Amino acid sequence: MSTLTVRKLNVDLSRGFDRYWLKDEVYRSAFLNALSMSFPLGEQMFIDSVRAVPPDAILDPALRAEVKDFVGQEASHRYVHQQYNAELVRQGYEYVLEEKTRKRMELIARLPLHDRLAITCALEHYTAMLADFVLRHPEWLDGAEDRMRTLWSWHAAEETEHKAVAFDVYKTVGGGYWKRVLWYLHVSLVFWWEMSFQTVDNLKRDRRLWKLSTWPGAARAWFGRKGLAWHLVKPGLDYLAPRFHPWQHDNRDLLQMWLESNDDAFRSIGSTPA
Ligand SMILES: [Fe+2]
Ligand SMILES: [Fe+2]
Repeated sequence: MSTLTVRKLNVDLSRGFDRYWLKDEVYRSAFLNALSMSFPLGEQMFIDSVRAVPPDAILDPALRAEVKDFVGQEASHRYVHQQYNAELVRQGYEYVLEEKTRKRMELIARLPLHDRLAITCALEHYTAMLADFVLRHPEWLDGAEDRMRTLWSWHAAEETEHKAVAFDVYKTVGGGYWKRVLWYLHVSLVFWWEMSFQTVDNLKRDRRLWKLSTWPGAARAWFGRKGLAWHLVKPGLDYLAPRFHPWQHDNRDLLQMWLESNDDAFRSIGSTPA
């Protein structure tokens, strides 16, 4: 039996949401909007890379079932973030990196399987670290519209739940240490550069880029007492260890807590029997 559950989120974004859905924290919403913009193409790439593994290459039936549910979860994230991003377009934002990202995804699709999976593992590590942060510090989203808070924490819960799937697949097909780590270093540079670039563009369209009030909020978000930067250092470096495994950082308690206190936020579609 798979350890994952595919869930349908009970959040309707069809009536849009406020441009300043995180109240005065304009930097945080610009950053989260930038992440959201990158998800549909990125998550499609994750799906394609695990699906490119020949079915008989995964002998463990539980992992095979988890791959199926991983695809189910990422597909539902894509769907919800497409709705989210459509609202951003209506509000006048633009995913300025879209064309470049689309071309990069085409290039990645032509790489050997181990490279595609190593890139997926690296990005899944980033989503897992960010997800842990969102679940551990719900106050980072204080002031958010309820639907947006639910959406981000649902995505964080599922990213936590499936954080080891791509990694286990990579190991199962014989993926090695250096490829995993070199792609991680490369992905880290591209990911942070592009997220910063898109965040700045979002702020520009808000006419908030040059407002003095924006940057203390940004500094707090990254370097405040519970800032994101401090949270990323240790797990970010842990990935470089030859014996790293995503569940060495066991945060199932956070996941369980969120699921139990938000069971009205989603409908479980189920998990795949192994
Ligand atoms: Fe996702
Ligand atoms: Fe994921």
